[in-house]
Amino acid sequence: MKNNYNKIPEQIIKSKRRDIAVFSTEGTNIDHSVVEAFGDEWLKFQNYTDETIDIFVKEYFDILDDTMVNKNTYAIDIGCGTGRWTKYLSTQAGFIEAIDPSNAVFAADNLLGDITNVRLSKASVETIPFDDETFDFAMSVGVLHHIPNTQQAMTDCIKKVKKGGYFYCYLYYNLDNRGFAFKLLFKASDLIRKMVSSLPAKIKKVICDILAAVIYLPMVLLVRFFYFIGLKKIGAKMPLSPYKNKSFFVLRNDALDRFGTKLEQRFSREEVIEMMKNAGLDNIIVGHTAPFYRAVGRKN
Ligand SMILES: C[S@@+](CC[C@H](N)C(=O)[O-])C[C@H]1O[C@@H](n2cnc3c(N)ncnc32)[C@H](O)[C@@H]1O
Repeated sequence: MKNNYNKIPEQIIKSKRRDIAVFSTEGTNIDHSVVEAFGDEWLKFQNYTDETIDIFVKEYFDILDDTMVNKNTYAIDIGCGTGRWTKYLSTQAGFIEAIDPSNAVFAADNLLGDITNVRLSKASVETIPFDDETFDFAMSVGVLHHIPNTQQAMTDCIKKVKKGGYFYCYLYYNLDNRGFAFKLLFKASDLIRKMVSSLPAKIKKVICDILAAVIYLPMVLLVRFFYFIGLKKIGAKMPLSPYKNKSFFVLRNDALDRFGTKLEQRFSREEVIEMMKNAGLDNIIVGHTAPFYRAVGRKN
């Protein structure tokens, strides 16, 4: 099922469990400082348990079914990070190519352990080392909004999908479905992000751990309290409510993910659909519950 690379790797690195082919990540549609920060992030937060992955899977991948991914599927995970979703996909698909331009591929090598139906490569969305129309299914989860030109990046991913195949993505939403107070709170948090993300890596990691402890954790405990006393509707509307069932490890990881990243872009539901259509998809489904926006479409 596995195809040959369509270019020669610059290097093959022997990681702990597998060989990792390294391809150039040069290009115009990549922010190298963002990629380096993600490499650091995933090497710090690589110990995802199967239980934690399962909780996320139910929320993120509920819009997929076995006509889109099954044991005959040749898939690619673009911007795999620590490989937590690649691990899930390895239980659903036949074979998965997982690529990331950062040192996160070494974290993924650890997390994926002895799984044999995955190959890891170091490459970016512009240098995906496979021919166009190779894959039955491609996904890019939380990646394209960290790339300067998201539309172009999405188009580059979808080029690699066969006609009739599927592309799944998760993109940050621009709070188009939220009220004024929520948006205001977001603007304040975005100012903090702009300051924190430009700090030196070590200080940034400490500050994000502090933010997880003093902002995320108390807010999540408050959400849990509202659920506990039966006021679910209020709890569900509060900021950070999707974290109500997540561990402190996840809160720390996501605080760094959110506040440690210089480049993030946000999209409305309509913009997500528009970009997917522009890139050649139809039959588009966008989830109606958090996390916003997860979407899948079929290549036409
Ligand atoms: C927020 S992480 C998401 C990782 C993984 N998909 C997940 O959800 O756990 C974003 C990932 O995108 C990768 N990335 C950033 N720029 C990229 C590019 N130009 N091409 C491919 N991946 C990129 C980063 O290295 C990082 O691992």
